[in-house]
Amino acid sequence: MSEDKLPVKNESDIISVRSFGRNLAANAGFGIVDQCRITTAISELARNAVVHGGGGSVTIKTIQNDKKGIEIIFRDEGPGIVNLELALKGGYSTVGGLGIGLSGAKRLMDEFQITSSAGKGTTVIIRKWLK
Ligand SMILES: Nc1ncnc2c1ncn2[C@@H]1O[C@H](COP(=O)(O)OP(=O)(O)OP(=O)(O)O)[C@@H](O)[C@H]1O
Ligand SMILES: [Mg+2]
Repeated sequence: MSEDKLPVKNESDIISVRSFGRNLAANAGFGIVDQCRITTAISELARNAVVHGGGGSVTIKTIQNDKKGIEIIFRDEGPGIVNLELALKGGYSTVGGLGIGLSGAKRLMDEFQITSSAGKGTTVIIRKWLK
């Protein structure tokens, strides 16, 4: 089990976090396709933390109960997501983006939990299990 809290404050942090996640996923036994899914989800959520959340942090670790998997937790203390339901549906962006980051990350992972409220920041927990 390895655990590390990494800063997600700028473009170079996004790159580091993405590569940290890929290495951990590969070491945990995920194949190339799942490594891609995981790193894409990481990139989208990391970018959201930087662009919308004013920067935050991430914890990436392997987890094990009856199954083995990877768990990634993003936290920021930015403005939060005012309309969470809309943001999760996809196609909604407050910055003129495509609005596919959150919905895409959700689709790519096995589990996706988000807590966000206006003024209180955003926490996103994603998990993928080895099949
Ligand atoms: N960490 C966050 N803090 C505050 N608001 C957020 C956060 N993440 C997402 N949002 C809000 O949810 C919306 C949808 O996010 P999503 O990632 O799906 O799209 P986007 O970032 O606007 O565009 P892109 O398709 O390029 O990712 C954002 O436009 C933003 O308003
Ligand atoms: Mg986004």
